[in-house]
Amino acid sequence: MDIRMTVNGEERSLDLDPRTSLLDALRDDLRLTGTKKGCDHGQCGACTVLVNGRRINSCLTLAAMHDGDEITTIEGLGAEDNLNDLQAAFVECDGFQCGYCTPGQIMSATGMLNEAAEGMPSHVSADLNGGADLSDAEIAERMSGNLCRCSAYPFIRKAISSVAEKEAAE
Ligand code: FES
Ligand code: FES
Repeated sequence: MDIRMTVNGEERSLDLDPRTSLLDALRDDLRLTGTKKGCDHGQCGACTVLVNGRRINSCLTLAAMHDGDEITTIEGLGAEDNLNDLQAAFVECDGFQCGYCTPGQIMSATGMLNEAAEGMPSHVSADLNGGADLSDAEIAERMSGNLCRCSAYPFIRKAISSVAEKEAAE
């Protein structure tokens, strides 16, 4: 079947088996291999991308469900010589070891910062009406869908926190 998606700002047309996951369409058909396949079962977060600005596990959704959608992958955030703030903060704070989970962590953190800015509470937020400050516990909870086998978690949280502080100061 034919599917059209805007991926990282570019219109893409794909002719796919209807059973193709969004993750496989991105990696195998569009050759955007920055998005990683960890578990392929919705358990690790390595495959996180943004769909219309919201984070999603791309292994758990079919590409066919996203005809006309806007997809952002790690390749759409910054370039090697022009990292975006989160990418730069992960480098600065030592937020990765092997780096396999890193694209998913950064995409999830991007979505998480947007959700927090919109006042969405998390399971640990004291105030359900929003305005949560992004404490270490808030960041840990909001990033709990992203696993890192190397346990770089303290540095990942530090990187996200530094960007949250920078955004709050702007
Ligand atoms: S590969 Fe999608 S959650 Fe693990
Ligand atoms: S840096 Fe290795 S799995 Fe996260």
